[in-house]
Amino acid sequence: MEWVYIEDIGKYEGKDVELRGWVFNFRRKGKLLFIILRDGTGIVQCVVFKGDVGEEQFEKAKRLTQESSVIIRGSVKKDDRAPGGYEVSVKEIEPIFITKDYPITKKEHGVAFLMEHRHLWIRSRRQNAILRIRSEVIQAIRDFLYSRKFTLVDSPIFTPSACEGTTTLFEVDYFGKPAYLTQSGQLYQEAAALAFGKAYCFGPAFRAEKSKTRRHLTEFWQVEPEIAFANLDEAMKLAEEMLVYIIERVLERRKIELERLQRDTKILESVKTPFPRISYTEAVKRINELGESLEWGEDFGAPHETALANSFDSPFIVHRFPAQVKAFYMRRDPEDERLSLSFDMLAPEGYGEIVGGGEREYDLEILLKRIKEHNLPEEAFQWYLDLRRYGSVPHSGFGLGIERTIAWICKLPHIRETIPFPRMLDTVYP
Ligand code: 4AD
Ligand code: MG
Repeated sequence: MEWVYIEDIGKYEGKDVELRGWVFNFRRKGKLLFIILRDGTGIVQCVVFKGDVGEEQFEKAKRLTQESSVIIRGSVKKDDRAPGGYEVSVKEIEPIFITKDYPITKKEHGVAFLMEHRHLWIRSRRQNAILRIRSEVIQAIRDFLYSRKFTLVDSPIFTPSACEGTTTLFEVDYFGKPAYLTQSGQLYQEAAALAFGKAYCFGPAFRAEKSKTRRHLTEFWQVEPEIAFANLDEAMKLAEEMLVYIIERVLERRKIELERLQRDTKILESVKTPFPRISYTEAVKRINELGESLEWGEDFGAPHETALANSFDSPFIVHRFPAQVKAFYMRRDPEDERLSLSFDMLAPEGYGEIVGGGEREYDLEILLKRIKEHNLPEEAFQWYLDLRRYGSVPHSGFGLGIERTIAWICKLPHIRETIPFPRMLDTVYP
């Protein structure tokens, strides 16, 4: 009998199959056992009739409990009332492990309890749906950039210096000298762009975020494309096209999971390029009109981002932030020195920033000046300055945060469920 996964069971209607999985739910009724089996790809109801499997197997199967593991062989039948549309009439049943006292039960558990049991919590239906969507999002990004002929160039995790400001650096002891966990792979992608034309990295980024919010993790994943000779507009266009592709893929291939999360997909279905674009200056005006107060020159805080993001029903872009709120590497707007050639992409429905990017300063003298202004250690940036010494060109790129993107796509109240094992201010276990 062929071992198949539950998500493929429809292809085996009328045939005998072998399923390997865990008991999601178990019910007994006289000579019948009803087992809802899960195997990570779906769930299916398996019906065990004493007369079919014999006394011995039936007695063994009676001992099954929630999250016991089991191998089941039987025939696949169409049943419109069954979850997933199919049912299995069991011919053989072979328990592998009988679980006792599984901690996550049908009753409501608090978030702290679930977070402590994250290693088990990921077995649940809702977490399964979210993490399968995450997998799809990541695969879509890789496929998209591959189809656009980007070269994957991995950035390191240990770094000699800050990329996104020194306040959120995690310092580690690197054989007696300080090193830092990377905040962003961008600086290395700039080297890669000058070597490969268009390059990207995709990996974890670390920020010592000392505040508890629904948007911040201390370890999150970023995809960072960088393109030599590209300007701000070209970077914004790529970011839009990438997001549209991600959404299309999730809608096409993770429909069942979106349904399980009860995500209303209307907004997702209507996303198309170009996205609405407003300047930072216009955004400040709008935020104040929405009843939040923000002075020109200040960065958005959480309430500003939420208010602005609630006023759109499509992802949108805010461009040309004041240079003073952005990182040292941002190129200034030649038309207004106070501004940087930067952009953020924000998700609607109150979600806020999911992408940050822009044009990079490519003039050696100006970049040196910025490094000094930001009190960054010049020595650690010599390799980065080399990129402005040898064949310097205008170049642009961005970073898209995976978890925030998934939080919006799934419309989750908190970012912690978008990553298998979240790391936050008060969370490093399990
Ligand atoms: O806007 P950020 O800080 O930009 C950079 O790191 C640039 N160096 C990227 C580049 O141009 N290559 O971060 C980019 C994105 C944010 O828009 C957000 O989606 C995500 O990374 N992000 C976080 N996600 C979860 N938790 C955090 N603490 C995050 N910080 C940033
Ligand atoms: Mg940002």
